[in-house]
Amino acid sequence: MKVNNQHYRTIWNNKNIIYLIDQNQLPFKFEILKLTTLAELCITIKEMNIRGAGAIGAAAGYAMALGVNEADSAYFFEQLNQAKAQIEATRPTAQNLFGSVKRVYDVALRATDPVKTAFEEAEKIALEDIAACQKIGEFGAELIQDGFSIETHCNAGWLAFVDYGSALAPFYQAKRQGKQFFVYVDETRPRNQGAKLTAWELANEQIPHAIIADNAGAHYMSQGKINLMIVGADRIAANGDTANKIGTLEKAICAKAFGIPFYVAAPIATIDLACQSGKQIPIEERSQDEVLYQKGMDVDVLKEVICRVSNPTSSALNPGFDVTPAEYITGFITEKGIIQATPQAIQGLF
Ligand code: MRU
Repeated sequence: MKVNNQHYRTIWNNKNIIYLIDQNQLPFKFEILKLTTLAELCITIKEMNIRGAGAIGAAAGYAMALGVNEADSAYFFEQLNQAKAQIEATRPTAQNLFGSVKRVYDVALRATDPVKTAFEEAEKIALEDIAACQKIGEFGAELIQDGFSIETHCNAGWLAFVDYGSALAPFYQAKRQGKQFFVYVDETRPRNQGAKLTAWELANEQIPHAIIADNAGAHYMSQGKINLMIVGADRIAANGDTANKIGTLEKAICAKAFGIPFYVAAPIATIDLACQSGKQIPIEERSQDEVLYQKGMDVDVLKEVICRVSNPTSSALNPGFDVTPAEYITGFITEKGIIQATPQAIQGLF
């Protein structure tokens, strides 16, 4: 994707130094972070400087490669295992993270030149992510008709992957095909990935859109204003149950009630066949401060502000994700095409 006319991936490697777009600064500042150690990269994943299924997957691959690079040859196996566990503890719901770590770990253990092999595998994962998202864009654009209004939740755009995105890739492709459409962007509390990141991406691509309060979705659906909903996924179980950003479940139930097609766009790397149903997907519990406080920018003085937006003596609960049962999902948009949300169709992708 282009920012100020320059092409960027969300994360890249140059001479075994990892660079990534700092998503915690967007949409107010566009800054690149430079990471040289496993510990630093793990912090950026946990603190969500880099976030979103595919981007986390790529970051985890590079993190594992940094772990291989740092491992002492005398304790190679033990230190690789420690690095793997350290990365896996950062974001427990994201399936792409676990898949990438395992891939890099497995090749490094067998390699004659583990460091070179590990970084090559991490790069392969990033390139596969880009190719998958490009195909998702092509297949998904077929669902978008001229004049449509489409709702999306959270940010499953190019920031959430290495490039192109999942849920937003069809929008970018449809726009290139000359289709006119409008996007309702759920703000996505508590971290506001919709209001901050999706809105920023759509504005960059000059796609007409409006940010709506999370509570407004059912209202617009009931008024016949939404033709289609496309969201991303963080982990898809073998039966099609799907974990995505908290709030997705409510949207899916409402979409079904109002007869609106509800699609999940995700690369096959997000599917976890080891989870038979959504009940087995671990749900990340994040800091209550994300609910109790909000972070923004005083645009007059260009200064970041953090303010409490809740009763000072109350605490909060903050599950990062929820699971939408497959029965609410019209279909999955994958790099191999659009499939039904059934165990048979999912199995057919492998
Ligand atoms: O907590 P995040 O921002 O890493 O969550 C991931 C997401 O952005 C969403 O759940 C998204 O819809 C799926 S990731 C492509």
